[in-house]
Amino acid sequence: MADFITLGVESSCDDTSVAVVLNGTKILSNIISSQLDIHALYGGVVPEIAARCHLENLLPIYKLALEEAAIAPEQINLVAATYGPGLIGSLLVGLSFAKALSIGLKVPFIGVNHIEGHIYANILERDAIKPPLLCLTVSGGHTDLLYINEWGSYQLLGRTLDDAAGEAYDKVARILELGYPGGPPIDKIARGITTGIEFPQARSLADSYNFSFSGLKTAVINYVHRQRQLNQELNVPEIAAGFQINLVGQLIDKLFRAAKEYRVNAILLSGGVAANSYLREQCRMRCDELGIAFYYPDIRLCTDNAAMIAAAGYFRYQKDGATGYDLTANPNLQL
Ligand code: KG4
Ligand code: ZN
Repeated sequence: MADFITLGVESSCDDTSVAVVLNGTKILSNIISSQLDIHALYGGVVPEIAARCHLENLLPIYKLALEEAAIAPEQINLVAATYGPGLIGSLLVGLSFAKALSIGLKVPFIGVNHIEGHIYANILERDAIKPPLLCLTVSGGHTDLLYINEWGSYQLLGRTLDDAAGEAYDKVARILELGYPGGPPIDKIARGITTGIEFPQARSLADSYNFSFSGLKTAVINYVHRQRQLNQELNVPEIAAGFQINLVGQLIDKLFRAAKEYRVNAILLSGGVAANSYLREQCRMRCDELGIAFYYPDIRLCTDNAAMIAAAGYFRYQKDGATGYDLTANPNLQL
């Protein structure tokens, strides 16, 4: 088959990214412009600011992506862009850009589900992974446990009923004054602590594959408030570790219960929280015990990026063909 170049565009939240991917798996360029510094001032993403930044960033990033990949616009065979889930204004900027580019270049356009993108981050720069497998997608907006019997079709086994895992990290980091996003500093500060402060488990969901993190988050927040009221000094590393062990414990419990029930060949992690060192360590240990293959994306491919969108778009295009230009942004898109 002749070489096929997909241009990916990602703008669902606070990262503007454009990537050039060859044959669905080889990254020729993956430019990511994070708006973190601006949003950190507010302790979280401000949707209106995010959309305006995407608008300013997209064209220069597109040019950089082509330059780094050393290709001309005429070599692009397919334009893929995230159409949901995410922030409506942010999504619309990237989606409109991608459609316009596809019309201008006279090449097909494909809309990509952001969550499917995170799953496909696992196949970039790698040989094919054989289903059946489980994929745990854990990000700032999602906590989904998916069973994948064949690539491109997904069965949702469980999801969070309240906060997403990354959202819980961000909120707990905020109360502990560790900054935004909260995952990386908690990961770092909790490293090497084996128990930490014990917080209650989410017992009511024990029989399902659904998750719940808001009880844990509230327990941590209440604990911090109580300590402050009593003028007690906070042991931030112990609190962070207790929170992380509890949250990751819940993820691991369900993931490996499902792994046994569905007899999978492999387990994949995806989404920003897949960068978490404790989660990776625990998964590695359990997978080794059970003789299951374990994959997670390279750390720079865990968080939002356009290479994963190009990969998902390429394979979706092979399966279902192009998307019509009437496709609109869907902030609440499910898999
Ligand atoms: O996938 P992503 O970049 O954006 C969404 O689609 O949401 O994920 C961002 C989330 C944030 O909540 C961030 O705190 C979390 O991923 N995160 C981490 C780590 N690195 C990023 N959470 C835990 N440990 C990490 N090392
Ligand atoms: Zn994401």
